[in-house]
Amino acid sequence: MDPLPAETPPERRFRYRRLAADLERRIRAGDFRPGDRLPSIRRLHRATGLSVSTVYRAFLELEEAGLVEAHPRSGYRVQPALWPPPPSLTHRRVKPAPQPIRLAAELSSVIAATSDPEFVPLGNTGMDAAHVPAKAFARMVREMNRFEWRSRLGYSPPEGLPELRREIALRDVGLPGGFRAEEIVVTSGCTEAIALALQAVARPGDTIAVESPTHFAVLQLLKEQGMLAAEVVVDPREGILLADLEHCLEKHPVRACFLMPHFQNPTGALMPAQKKKRLLEILSRRGIPVIVDDISAPLHFTGNRPLPLTAWDRQGLVIQCSSFSKTLAPGLRIGWVAARGERLEKIRRLKAATSICTSSLDQAIVARFLASGAYDRHLLRLRVAVGRQRLLTADLVRRHFPEGTRFALPQGGTLLWIELPQGIDGLELYRRAYARKIAIVPGAICANSPRFRNFILLSCAGPVDPRVSAAIVTLGEIARRVQDQRF
Ligand SMILES: Cc1ncc(COP(=O)(O)O)c(C=O)c1O
Repeated sequence: MDPLPAETPPERRFRYRRLAADLERRIRAGDFRPGDRLPSIRRLHRATGLSVSTVYRAFLELEEAGLVEAHPRSGYRVQPALWPPPPSLTHRRVKPAPQPIRLAAELSSVIAATSDPEFVPLGNTGMDAAHVPAKAFARMVREMNRFEWRSRLGYSPPEGLPELRREIALRDVGLPGGFRAEEIVVTSGCTEAIALALQAVARPGDTIAVESPTHFAVLQLLKEQGMLAAEVVVDPREGILLADLEHCLEKHPVRACFLMPHFQNPTGALMPAQKKKRLLEILSRRGIPVIVDDISAPLHFTGNRPLPLTAWDRQGLVIQCSSFSKTLAPGLRIGWVAARGERLEKIRRLKAATSICTSSLDQAIVARFLASGAYDRHLLRLRVAVGRQRLLTADLVRRHFPEGTRFALPQGGTLLWIELPQGIDGLELYRRAYARKIAIVPGAICANSPRFRNFILLSCAGPVDPRVSAAIVTLGEIARRVQDQRF
């Protein structure tokens, strides 16, 4: 950082440095922990008598040193990456080969526990009810007049209400290759979007390259559609291994890929821009379409929304699926799929044939919510809240789980993918937690091959209140007991 101009008296020149050094000492001593909010600039200005700009310079200094990060509207926080030590999860390489889907027996109980209010919702990765902007929703519904109610209770076009598609497309403005309203089809959640996309590009018996681990619901979809999965390993920080993917595409007749480049489920991996560019080069050489589940992209904790794959897509290979389930309300079931050319036409026909249209009333409510600006304000708050929940969850896991437990701290999304020490069976942990009415996701259901037995997935979607904290402590105790009893 540049020093202040030479004419500044020496004692003033270094005041911000003294403050920065004092804050750094406190961070290193653990007075402020990773993710903690530092006192605001105004508060420090009042407490120290230093000018606002001096305090601000001290923060800039700390930011440059990588000790703190700025969060819009909530000031400076201690850099979460200071968490000791940054763990790197073990890579489990597999040779990708097409396989029919074998669903784990636990899948249906995992799904049932997710929607059961009696369970502590550590397996529910959708938006938590505590964050639903209920007041704003209620106002929006009250404001609808009789005429609107009548018109909203009829069918809408299969591709969705024009005002909703416009609002969704508006959020792509400025993103390279962003989709236009005419390229969007509204669906019943991201799950229907993915189902339509799969049907548009592949038939029963076809092979889809998927990340391993992946979102268990996608394995379920592939199974029901009679498709095969070729699993390609994911690096928990940077996403799918491109060399393995390329090898898989060379060796096997892959019809399409299904990927989550932004805060992947379950690892939370974020694919760097250069890697996305290389991915599109690989796919473009073979003309292979890629179905992208981008549901978590708006939940980035710092910086801007990551660049979409469309930024490098010259052939219209990207089919983008998303929904408001992680950012507004999963029960609304409003999602969308965006595509180009023939695939868009096919998706439109499939949507009309399978469900005529998505609920017109729900679409109208969401469209109003987006148009009012309330959604964007809500998102700003939600990112801060979920980012904080992730840190609190990670901190509890770090303190209460057995030694040797590892996780990578994601930069966005609602998930914490945890590797338990070898020998701790995640399925056993899941069963015992289930009996105590604590819902988690066992890692074993996130892959088609028998892998990730010693992994679990915890959701950070809800507030870490005393009930949730106690549940995480209990999980740690159960994990120790499972560890002690292994043979
Ligand atoms: C990656 C991912 N895709 C899709 C879904 C399901 O989305 P929807 O509820 O919109 O169908 C989830 C659930 O949280 C998810 O984590």
